[in-house]
Amino acid sequence: MPGDPLSALGSPVADAEQAINRAANARRPWYMNVQRRRLGYRETPASRAKWMRHMEPNTDTAYDASTSADFAEVDDRVGWVLGYPFALRALGVGGPDAPVTLLDYGCGPGKVAHRVARDHGLRVIAVDPSAEMLSIASRRHGHPRVVYHRVREHRLAFLADSSVDAAMACFVFLALPSLEQVRAIAAEVWRVLRPGGRFVILDPHSDHVGMQFSAFRSGEPGVSYQDGDPRVAHLLMTNGEWLELPDYFWSAHTYQEILAEVGFTDLRTDAPVLADAERPGPADPRTWDYDVEREHAPFMLVHGCRPGS
Ligand SMILES: C[S@@+](CC[C@H](N)C(=O)[O-])C[C@H]1O[C@@H](n2cnc3c(N)ncnc32)[C@H](O)[C@@H]1O
Repeated sequence: MPGDPLSALGSPVADAEQAINRAANARRPWYMNVQRRRLGYRETPASRAKWMRHMEPNTDTAYDASTSADFAEVDDRVGWVLGYPFALRALGVGGPDAPVTLLDYGCGPGKVAHRVARDHGLRVIAVDPSAEMLSIASRRHGHPRVVYHRVREHRLAFLADSSVDAAMACFVFLALPSLEQVRAIAAEVWRVLRPGGRFVILDPHSDHVGMQFSAFRSGEPGVSYQDGDPRVAHLLMTNGEWLELPDYFWSAHTYQEILAEVGFTDLRTDAPVLADAERPGPADPRTWDYDVEREHAPFMLVHGCRPGS
């Protein structure tokens, strides 16, 4: 790196550091290193096909062992201030007609499912296609009210029609490379949701791509993204390192359109900023400055209701 005193000196420390980086890169699939080439990266049909193969959500390559282990160590404080609590609120948790059973679609390492069951008393059906994610979830975030299931082909065959009260997909739709997959999952969620139940999609805000928030940046500053464009998320980990994860850009408008097509009504998009966070939660906003989050919403919540009662 120019200006980096260690690399300029070519010291043993710099050599060791480079060797560690090379070893870490070798462990990762090629797309994990895309960000480093980002400015020179030009998508071609071949590169997109390769990307999509790696992101195929019904294989373990979507979140393999190394990625799953890294993701489990992401610092999710911003999510616990401006994301997850708003998703739960959108679903009516804590309200007069609160859901009893929640589907956590794409539960990852199970941190959210566990906390929802523990703190809000919900029964959580947590599903994910990644065997590695589910293994971490079961080992670290087991709870008597949480059941973990592997989902295949977007099907929730083990769930009857109208069998859950509410559903959420937190930072999951961004992993989907095609609108067909977004639509297929929304339709399956619609099937298992009881009439009157709500479904919320939580994702990074599509108007704020490239903006550096306290613990993440989604995409590159100055780059304009269209629906389906690959992008790289930069996530702060609890050890202070930054994790790069490939995902896809989808706009709030597109999510609303898909939810409407599938049959959801009463569609809403929320974009909370710091002033909307009622009180310090498990991640106390006072411990960070959250300067950017005062003015700009890091996340968007697109949600709707399966009509009927
Ligand atoms: C960024 S993680 C989010 C995990 C969790 N929801 C959270 O907020 O911590 C995305 C998760 O979506 C899962 N995923 C990817 N494709 C999926 C699909 N087609 N259906 C369900 N989950 C999927 C991945 O395996 C991964 O666990």
